[in-house]
Amino acid sequence: MLRTTGAVREFTEAPVDPAVLHRILDHARFAPSGGNQQGWRVTIVRDPATRRRLGELSAATFQRYLAESYAGYRAFNPITPAPADVDVPDDLPTNPMLDHLVDVPEVLVVSVDLRVLAVLDRDLDRYSVVGGGSVYPFCHNILLAARNEGLGGVLTTFLVASEAEVAPLLGLPEGHGLVAMICLGSPVHQPTKLKRNPVESFATIDRFDGDPFTVPEP
Ligand SMILES: Cc1cc2nc3c(=O)[nH]c(=O)nc-3n(C[C@H](O)[C@H](O)[C@H](O)COP(=O)(O)O)c2cc1C
Repeated sequence: MLRTTGAVREFTEAPVDPAVLHRILDHARFAPSGGNQQGWRVTIVRDPATRRRLGELSAATFQRYLAESYAGYRAFNPITPAPADVDVPDDLPTNPMLDHLVDVPEVLVVSVDLRVLAVLDRDLDRYSVVGGGSVYPFCHNILLAARNEGLGGVLTTFLVASEAEVAPLLGLPEGHGLVAMICLGSPVHQPTKLKRNPVESFATIDRFDGDPFTVPEP
């Protein structure tokens, strides 16, 4: 399961049984979070007009993401950001899933109560990453639990860039932040071979630049 839960962005028309969706969330809630604060909230968006707007907002950021990538930047990177006036060509490809968000079987918007986060890198003089750790494991649990039910999905973050517009649309209260929009359904194609780097490429002994971790020969 861990090796085959890939991103699924194309779904059949089959609806997701509400009991199955409930079971997915019921499994996902066992995710870890800092101080076990479980600050996640899930808004299951079914209203077509709301979905259309979420799709439009996400699609606009998708275009920007592509434009930055095509211009040779690592899109939305905080360390080496693309210039604000990066060229956005008119003929960029669109994103079929976002263009047809109305047809996605289930759309879950995950948010988090920022007031319960323990962000241990809050005061460091670098980009903060710890806060997300209290909610993205929950998001990934949703995808794993969906896979366990024969469903597929994808975690998207394009929408987060439009939090100011999304907050009133979904009634997101003050002090809550957008985390992800997760699309779920029956996959048209279930990925089984994911491309990931080998253990030796990221695990080392004693120091960051130490020997790669390998299993000793018997
Ligand atoms: C934090 C995070 C943000 C992501 N944002 C998006 C997104 O906005 N749109 C999208 O289509 N996929 C998004 N993804 C999915 C990644 O593109 C996907 O996990 C990655 O390409 C690996 O794909 P694979 O599992 O099919 O190999 C995101 C994944 C993560 C973990």
